[in-house]
Amino acid sequence: MITDILVIGSGISGLTYAIKIGEQNPDLRLTMISKNNLLESNTRYAQGGIAVVSNFKKDSFDKHIQDTLIAGAGKCDKEVVRFVVEEGHERLQELMNWGAHFDKKKNSLHLTKEGGHSEKRIVHYKDRTGLEIQESLIRKIKTFPNISLLENHTLVDLITDHHTGSNHQRCYGAYVISNLEQEIIRISSKITVLTTGGAGQLFSHTTNPENATGDGLGAAYRAKVFMKALPFVQFHPTALYPKIDGNTFLISEAVRGEGGILKNANGERFMPNYDPQAELAPRDIVARSIAKEILKSGEDYVYLDCSPIKAEDFINQFPTILDNCKKISINPLEKPIPVIPAAHYFCGGIEVNAYSETKLNGLYAIGECSYTGLHGANRLASNSLLESLVFSHRAALNSLTEMKGNLPSNRFYQEIPEWEGTHHISNEKIVAIGQLKKSLQKLMAKKVGIFKTSEGLIQAENELKKIFLETRDIYMQNKLTLEVCELRNMVSVAYLMIKQSQELKENIGVFYNHDNVA
Ligand code: SIN
Repeated sequence: MITDILVIGSGISGLTYAIKIGEQNPDLRLTMISKNNLLESNTRYAQGGIAVVSNFKKDSFDKHIQDTLIAGAGKCDKEVVRFVVEEGHERLQELMNWGAHFDKKKNSLHLTKEGGHSEKRIVHYKDRTGLEIQESLIRKIKTFPNISLLENHTLVDLITDHHTGSNHQRCYGAYVISNLEQEIIRISSKITVLTTGGAGQLFSHTTNPENATGDGLGAAYRAKVFMKALPFVQFHPTALYPKIDGNTFLISEAVRGEGGILKNANGERFMPNYDPQAELAPRDIVARSIAKEILKSGEDYVYLDCSPIKAEDFINQFPTILDNCKKISINPLEKPIPVIPAAHYFCGGIEVNAYSETKLNGLYAIGECSYTGLHGANRLASNSLLESLVFSHRAALNSLTEMKGNLPSNRFYQEIPEWEGTHHISNEKIVAIGQLKKSLQKLMAKKVGIFKTSEGLIQAENELKKIFLETRDIYMQNKLTLEVCELRNMVSVAYLMIKQSQELKENIGVFYNHDNVA
């Protein structure tokens, strides 16, 4: 298959980018692949909202910039922070013009607060902002005849000179696998855009959906594209305990923003002992404090007491949280919610410039799979959807210019070779893949989680080597399946994360190694 632009991933970044291309140049053929159905992305699960300065009487760009820089622990790129905050307002208007709804109070947007924000500035739709955005963008994208949507297809590898034997030093599209038939398809493209999200599935507890297996990160690594800041994995302080149907459900930070209080197993409020901002301290501080309280008590969780929030407000603002708590027989209006920290967001990723271009020509990365410099060592809550909107816009404008430039001939793209591989996989191997994935998740949670030690990182590296060798054997000797692709990517991302963690000699932002000096 040949297309002008290939977008891999269907969350807010991919959809926004594609809509912009569709609006600006109806002659370009754009193909978007989505790992599951179009709706199933990390965006869909974002509860809190988008951090955007909109109440200019109280709030200002400067305040939002300061909050972002403080959360990022001195590791943010100040210029990136500035333009993202300043351009956010216009991008939000555009999103609303495309049909996304946000909660209103009288005639203004209803704003809520989350950890690390000095003002109320989170624009949201109840506790399902991501779903509202995702659905409105899907409605919009379906209006463009030049955009083809390919659901249930997963990235296998990026096509580079390694596959073509050429020396243009570009990306030429991707090999993708159809999840159902497990056939590998070659998609040649002049521009390729990764919007594949993070890899929360590396850990046993994650707020990410099952498809968050670092596919873009793994493929970029194999294409020798540089990756930065991978040890900065943000753990969300409050995920519901236990899991529901095997999935960890997020309890939005907005619950604490509206007055929710954290209590330990003895029913005592503990956050004021750790930080003057208490429950609304930056996420890394809250997550580490909870982890310490859990270790102290020997219980598996702490409690989020929602009684300071008026019942009527809770029902109105957090209907999805209410429903999910009821699934485990907890009524938050009557009883505190058991919560634990869970892997939530990759602050690091593929290094990109201010237009989302990676170091490999023709390859862009937007959203969680990228490292723009906005989040530094710790992302400020609700800055991720904002980053996606701003960078999708910039990447789309840049791509339109690039498409007019000097690119390899159409013939070159037509002659890119098909994928070659074996055609058989045994049942035994299928079982082994599932076991390897579970071992990897346990290993990462234990040795590369909220708290690390230098010895633990060495042990993790050694254990990972065994998992890598088994995965490599399965990959080399069997038909490539979706599960093998995912495992291969997870192993690569884990390896990079462990190696980069070993190099980090200071505790900063979300990164904490007990053996580093303070
Ligand atoms: C939340 O609702 O707490 C998540 C928001 C975010 O991760 O930015």
